[in-house]
Amino acid sequence: MAVETISKAAEIIKNGGLVAFPTETVYGLGADAFNPQAVARVYLAKGRPGDNPLILHIATIEQFLELADSPPPYAMTLIKACWPGPLTLIIKKKPHLPAWVGGHPNKTTQTIGIRMPSHPVAKALLQASNCPIAAPSANKSGRPSPTTTSHVIDDFAATGELDMILDGENSDIGIESTVVDMTGAYPVILRPGSITAETIWEVTGLKSGTSTAADTSPPRSPGMKYRHYAPKAPMQILKGEPHNIAAYILKQCTENPSKEHQVGVLVTDSVNNILSGKIPQNVEMMILGNNNNDIAQNLFAHLRRFDKLNVKIIYTEAVLDTGIGIAIMDRMLKAAEGNVFEV
Ligand code: TXA
Ligand code: MG
Repeated sequence: MAVETISKAAEIIKNGGLVAFPTETVYGLGADAFNPQAVARVYLAKGRPGDNPLILHIATIEQFLELADSPPPYAMTLIKACWPGPLTLIIKKKPHLPAWVGGHPNKTTQTIGIRMPSHPVAKALLQASNCPIAAPSANKSGRPSPTTTSHVIDDFAATGELDMILDGENSDIGIESTVVDMTGAYPVILRPGSITAETIWEVTGLKSGTSTAADTSPPRSPGMKYRHYAPKAPMQILKGEPHNIAAYILKQCTENPSKEHQVGVLVTDSVNNILSGKIPQNVEMMILGNNNNDIAQNLFAHLRRFDKLNVKIIYTEAVLDTGIGIAIMDRMLKAAEGNVFEV
């Protein structure tokens, strides 16, 4: 990307404006993390509840050490192994920092979420801005996270709330970073991502706990209690043998063959092959991909396509629950509000 474009974006950040930018996970909607007016605009633009804190994006370890209060040794080990990359640390915040930093300007936070992204455009913007950038995913609250520039445009172009969108390729990973609470004696995964519990185990020798929305009240990661990644149509996740999934989908679709009742179907090649030639007219087929990395990369884009096609219901094949598959299932379950069918 042209140096002038990055300089212009950095000027906007420094002057309190909002810039959407690509990262290796999903696109972020950034503002100067220490400018309360700018951060308040991020919440307003997204329609984000004020009790849901933001991740601060940084470019250097020095910036991390200025924000984090005595990070545990295992956090430093993870940073060495995983940064820059798709790992967000929740850490106790330095006491001299403004009480609100890391969250909404009207709230107080004791902890702070920090991540050093690896995407070259994100890195260039952070370096040129020379400040931590508070950035949630660049979608309207509740919508699937954006993995292309056009997703950001779809959510925000009409509203004029963003001052600039930095163009990038499609996101490499496609789902958001792993969020890990590192305020205790051992790491606790608050949001699964491409950095898995196995990686954390291999790197630190520590078994990480997991925390789900049901675990604690109030939840430790406030974002987990909101409906997320949600397509407009209701969604069903189908678990079972490919033949059973195909048969179930065919039955559902043929029971409702009218063109007005569009059905979205999101399956792997193996189910698609079984269905081929038998798919009724009212079905919009999308292929998930054949491995979990491809599936992660494509999931949100497919959900957004179904919205544009105005489907009335979505059937999705469940994925293998290992590695990044755990994060994919987490996002699918949130999109489907836990609606799983064994077929
Ligand atoms: O990959 C990503 O993490 C992307 C890119 C843009 O970096 N960002 C992202 O941000 O997904 P957002 O705001 O959509 O999700 C951040 C999550 C939320 O669930 C939020 O509640 C949690 O991180 N979080 C942020 N700060 C926190 C804190 N201090 N304590 C607990 N949870 C926190
Ligand atoms: Mg988000």
